[in-house]
Amino acid sequence: MLFLGVNIDHVATLRQVRLASYPDPVEIAPLVEKAGAHGITVHLREDRRHIQEDDVRRLRDTITTRLNLELALSEEIIRIALEVRPDEVCLVPERRAELTTEGGLDVVSQKEKIREVVERFHEKGIKTSLFIDPDPIQIEASLATGTDMVELHTGRYAEARGETREKEYQRLCEGAKRAALLGLQVNAGHGLNYENTFPIASIPELHTLNIGHAIVARALFVGMEQAVREMLGVMHRGRKEGV
Ligand code: PXP
Repeated sequence: MLFLGVNIDHVATLRQVRLASYPDPVEIAPLVEKAGAHGITVHLREDRRHIQEDDVRRLRDTITTRLNLELALSEEIIRIALEVRPDEVCLVPERRAELTTEGGLDVVSQKEKIREVVERFHEKGIKTSLFIDPDPIQIEASLATGTDMVELHTGRYAEARGETREKEYQRLCEGAKRAALLGLQVNAGHGLNYENTFPIASIPELHTLNIGHAIVARALFVGMEQAVREMLGVMHRGRKEGV
């Protein structure tokens, strides 16, 4: 079984560019759930570029699946997350200093700090994930923080073409295998779309894919429910038929 978390940040992006009251991501969430997605993902950024604190609180009160909150290592956002209590959180980099060269969270250089944050979430019964590159060193460091899950960054794979994409794909396959062997739940996301998700879905160790931009963009043409159903179809075929 492969689960889909739909990232609805860009519904809020559309609202924020006009500082309007619509479209409301909280009103989109039930359509996403009705279409069969397994969770709703939002990123509360320090700069509040799209999702606002009030959105997260309203989502917590209304969604019937799982709420996954992405956040940076910011004390302000960590406190909000501890209070709102999403089902799970995913720690992501927002500042250059938190990034590895490829774009995931640099767990190696921040292991102690991340371990403390993971512990604070666990005390409140919130599961944790770390958004990392499929790099063995980052995977081992993640395990040492006590996190429940990692989310492998698929951005490089998504951007690459030809042989480079194949190489990035192999790195993701190996990373997923390694993390799963260590006992971590392995998710993946970033840059996944209707064209490149099929091979990713065939990686057997993956538990959840978090996909946002492509689904929100497709929804402009076919509506949110249909856009989610189409992605679930790609994922289902990828998992069943493989590459
Ligand atoms: N996973 C994580 C950790 C993210 O931060 C994001 C959004 O940037 C996504 C998945 C979804 O990426 P996309 O919008 O490209 O599908």
